[in-house]
Amino acid sequence: MIALGSDHAGLPLKQEIMAMLDEMHLPYKDFGTYTTDSCDYAVFAQRAARAVASGECERGILCCGTGIGISIAANKVKGIRCVACSDCFSAKMSRAHNDANMLAMGARVVGPELARMIVTFFLTTDFEGGRHQRRIDQIASIERGEDLG
Ligand code: RB5
Repeated sequence: MIALGSDHAGLPLKQEIMAMLDEMHLPYKDFGTYTTDSCDYAVFAQRAARAVASGECERGILCCGTGIGISIAANKVKGIRCVACSDCFSAKMSRAHNDANMLAMGARVVGPELARMIVTFFLTTDFEGGRHQRRIDQIASIERGEDLG
């Protein structure tokens, strides 16, 4: 299950991603927003991020105007590693090295076809583990307020 969220600016791109997921027969849950009325991205980032952090959803995809605000907000939820991404290499590496569990994109930054490619890399690339797991564990330590030295 994939958690989706956007603000008004990201709504058209989120709808493009919903169409893509429909074509791939991948289930998703849309945490809003549902209209083009102006709204605040943090609300929808938190709803979708909580669903990922709780395990209700395995991954999440967020959209706002730039992908920046909504990713910053999502990353405030414990356990979330959200990458704001506008290229395929970063999308792939965010999974392989950082075990990113959420992807954020900007509807004013990436076009629909590039967004589809980014989503494909995000959904199909496995985490490599190994030395990268140690670094993910360090990020979790920071969340717990521990000193990394
Ligand atoms: C909304 O105008 C815009 O600021 C928002 O979608 C996002 O780009 C913020 O980071």
